[in-house]
Amino acid sequence: MQQDLDQYFTDHREQHLAQYTDFLRIPSVSTKSEHKADIIRAANFVAEEMSTLGFEHVELVETPGHPVVYGDWLHAPGKPTVLVYAHYDVQPAEPFELWKSPPFEADIRDGLIYARGSSDDKSHVFMHLKTCEALFATRNTLPLNIKFCFEGEEEVGSHGLTNLLATDPERFDADLIVISDTSIIGPNQPAICYSLRGIAEFELTVHGANSDLHSGGYGGGVQNATHALVELLSTMHDQQGHISIDGFYEQVRPLSEQERTEMASLPFDEEEFKAFLGVNDLYGEEGYTYRERTSARPTLEVNGIYGGYQGEGGKTVIPNEAHAKISCRLVPDQEPEEILALVEKHIRAHTPKGVTIEIEKHHGARPYITPIDHPAVTIAQQAYEDAYGVPARFTRMGGSIPIVEVFSRTLKKPIVMVGFALPTCNAHAPNEHFSLDNFDKGLRTISSYWLLLSEQYTLSEG
Ligand code: BES
Ligand code: MN
Ligand code: MN
Repeated sequence: MQQDLDQYFTDHREQHLAQYTDFLRIPSVSTKSEHKADIIRAANFVAEEMSTLGFEHVELVETPGHPVVYGDWLHAPGKPTVLVYAHYDVQPAEPFELWKSPPFEADIRDGLIYARGSSDDKSHVFMHLKTCEALFATRNTLPLNIKFCFEGEEEVGSHGLTNLLATDPERFDADLIVISDTSIIGPNQPAICYSLRGIAEFELTVHGANSDLHSGGYGGGVQNATHALVELLSTMHDQQGHISIDGFYEQVRPLSEQERTEMASLPFDEEEFKAFLGVNDLYGEEGYTYRERTSARPTLEVNGIYGGYQGEGGKTVIPNEAHAKISCRLVPDQEPEEILALVEKHIRAHTPKGVTIEIEKHHGARPYITPIDHPAVTIAQQAYEDAYGVPARFTRMGGSIPIVEVFSRTLKKPIVMVGFALPTCNAHAPNEHFSLDNFDKGLRTISSYWLLLSEQYTLSEG
């Protein structure tokens, strides 16, 4: 069905990798204001590619934060319309010194392309663009209608796009929503993600005396803010790894035996995985497997903790302030607001003597889960099989893509998560990379998916 496309991808591979390298060179770090101009450059790169393809209504849609790049091609009457989502923003590259090659100068080693964003998520933006390029070049048309929605704020919570969906849902309406921002199980085992965790974040500050104090003069008589923080944090989990906050698990949808069996049957080599991580043991909530803990169970994690003297040498002081940045990963049917309220109640009830606390809550994201028996999902499985030789398995993933639940709730259309990153790709970490084999197979999977949907997907199924 797609010899012409395969040939096109083979003939243009060098050119595509050079263009991909140009895209990766732009440090579109969404969290840092110093990169605002780079965000715009990346958005323009994507918009220009769309225009070159012949997409219409190409626009950098402004938001209070970073623009959404929108464009559509709607000239396949009677065929389904797919909304394609991925994000062009990336995480900060720090710590720079741990990169073996500079994070924004892509380097190919052993079939892997190394750069910040190479997996998360510029790979997917780029593969979608190049799939359309190949279809236009070989067939002069697309087999279905496509609306591209490439976001620049995924890594900071997707607030702009959330607002755009509330004010102008028609622009994004489609028969099917395809999200490309997830991973597969292994190099030769594709997977379709059917559930993401939500997130609830907050910052905790402990205030002690009105100033740092001499630890000789006052030590033993005044509460130390760092001690109080550590004491407070230690009340949040028990010895079995459960979260000890009252009501935290109340809304958690229990795993069915069938789902647990299915999850247990997915390939996972614990020894190999421990070696990959460089840890002597895995750790987590008792009674659950690693895969369950990291995708279908909620967590509470300290992401950063600071207080007291950090400089060279010692300093005999009782710190009067200590801070922690904390995030909870949520599973269906937990609500971020409710969880933050429970956490706050716990903190207030467990605040050690002699300090006061301050909590700054951040906007969260809801968890997401969808059935896997939809025809659009079955067709996606076939598309993966075309490229990988084996059908995709189904996985729940522990990360969050805030907009997925918002799409589902506002557009009320089926969502299929079609991604090609690997769990070992170092997303968010130094030496992020993307497998060129999955680049080739991703292009093939996406083109197959569009062709199969065009042939097999009847609109009434949406
Ligand atoms: N692509 C990830 C989410 C992801 C990770 C999906 C692993 C599937 C497997 C996304 O870019 C991401 O990192 N999201 C953030 C969202 C947060 C900043 C609101 C996350 O999960 O930390
Ligand atoms: Mn991502
Ligand atoms: Mn990410």
